[in-house]
Amino acid sequence: LPTVRVRLKAREAAYAINVKSGLIDEVGVVAKRALPSGARKVALISNSTVFELYGERVLLSLRSAEFDVLPMLVGDGERHKSMRTLDRVLSFLTESKFERSDAVVALGGGVVGDLAGFASAVYLRGIGLLQVPTTLLSQIDSSVGGKTGVNMPQGKNLVGAFHQPRAVCIDTATLKTLPERELTAGWCEAVKQGAAGDRALFDETLAFLSKPEDSGSKSDGKLASLIAKQCAFKASIVAGDEHEALHRADARSRKILNFGHTTAHALESATKYRRFRHGEAVGYGMLVAGELSKRLGLLDTSELELLRTAVHACGRLPRADDLDPKRILELIAHDKKSIGGRIKWVLLSRIGRAAIIDGGEISNGLLTASLHAAFQRHS
Ligand SMILES: NC(=O)c1ccc[n+]([C@@H]2O[C@H](COP(=O)([O-])OP(=O)(O)OC[C@H]3O[C@@H](n4cnc5c(N)ncnc54)[C@H](O)[C@@H]3O)[C@@H](O)[C@H]2O)c1
Repeated sequence: LPTVRVRLKAREAAYAINVKSGLIDEVGVVAKRALPSGARKVALISNSTVFELYGERVLLSLRSAEFDVLPMLVGDGERHKSMRTLDRVLSFLTESKFERSDAVVALGGGVVGDLAGFASAVYLRGIGLLQVPTTLLSQIDSSVGGKTGVNMPQGKNLVGAFHQPRAVCIDTATLKTLPERELTAGWCEAVKQGAAGDRALFDETLAFLSKPEDSGSKSDGKLASLIAKQCAFKASIVAGDEHEALHRADARSRKILNFGHTTAHALESATKYRRFRHGEAVGYGMLVAGELSKRLGLLDTSELELLRTAVHACGRLPRADDLDPKRILELIAHDKKSIGGRIKWVLLSRIGRAAIIDGGEISNGLLTASLHAAFQRHS
């Protein structure tokens, strides 16, 4: 079983990320191992799409491990990652008399994981959490690192907490039911992780994407191994900078995971979150960051070409060449990740090595040209 161990210096907490095709049927065994021995009750939080596909199997597995399982479903979609749904989940836990030693199991994509994770972080000031991510994005990214939270009407992820799970169970076979666009979005985040911090991971991701004809158990094994490596990469970055320290701007700081995100947030906002899946917007964001890096003399043309190939290999992206660059520029200026009003751009000095650059060094002209080049070439 490929297992990634996450060790966090800050609190000496360690947990395992287990990756295997078919692991859904072993969630109970993993829970038994990872949760405190007094854990009796488990809230299985999911949405109806995922629960219909995998809920019964998880229920059965947890019940076989002698947990008293109480399922609760939340709505499907980003708009349900809200204070209102959080309130419903917390009321459910209270009314069902969950105790400190009991736990939450989050079964679903990043929406369920962030929401259920946040509920487990604040209920009784923190109870156990087991993540069972079922989208590619949640398997390689959101279930690793302990960020949990909900959206506010004023913006995404504005309220949240760091709360590490006791274990993560990744069943790569769940990706077989995932819609194509969700896969593309997830692969864009996978390319992002390699491009921003790990050349070997980037090469392996691109090699996997370039051979879609492989199928069967060999390819299942390759996918599980790649996902485990993606998790290990994210875990290593998180371990070195658990809370994303504001002052850090080095090539191993957690900020590098925002590669592609400055433009992505602007694209999502310009299209009112209706056109792009987040990962698709990150696809364009990486291309813009790549163009900027090349124009600033940081990145070789051949490296930019490789980045383009990788983004292309993730799948088709919705068009972006009809968007007004002026509007995108304005939105970028209001990026919520700015520090003291200054944007920090995550750029590349080569594939696998990020460089964090102050927004003051990037002129509007340079940015407009980069937006134009990235949007045209890919639409
Ligand atoms: N906590 C973090 O560090 C972190 C990092 C990145 C993103 N996020 C958050 O993650 C969220 C996005 O997550 P997401 O991309 O997983 O979206 P999502 O949770 O909305 O899932 C996408 C869709 O796929 C469906 N689905 C899930 N698993 C499926 C399966 N196996 N088969 C068929 N359908 C399935 C879902 O019901 C949903 O309709 C955002 O809210 C984002 O803010 C958090």
